[in-house]
Amino acid sequence: MTYIVNDKCIKCKLMDCVEVCPVDCFYEGENMLVIKPDECIDCGVCEPECPVDAIKPDTEDGTSSWVDLNEKYSKLWPNITKKRSGDVPSDQEKWRNVNDKIKYFSQKPGQGD
Ligand code: SF4
Ligand code: F3S
Repeated sequence: MTYIVNDKCIKCKLMDCVEVCPVDCFYEGENMLVIKPDECIDCGVCEPECPVDAIKPDTEDGTSSWVDLNEKYSKLWPNITKKRSGDVPSDQEKWRNVNDKIKYFSQKPGQGD
């Protein structure tokens, strides 16, 4: 089992989640974060930290494609363990209630720590 980040994170990227993960298994893309399934210990601490509810356990329906995406990009992107408040997208509020944001997904890596 693992937790995953889904498309609700895209263009919001609030980074509250990274501060609480005890095993530092978040990885940063240009406009979202992902969790590395191999490293996640299923503690569940990050799930309530995300203000847009983008983090889910893979036991929920509809998460399998997100497990694949999290696995793939966590191998390509840099690790992030600290929130950079200045890099939270300035227009994130307008993206919070947008559905199906996968079309805005960027494959580019983020900055990382
Ligand atoms: Fe980290 Fe726990 Fe969240 Fe997994 S469930 S990403 S170990 S905080
Ligand atoms: Fe994304 Fe939520 Fe973390 S918006 S960066 S999963 S706090």
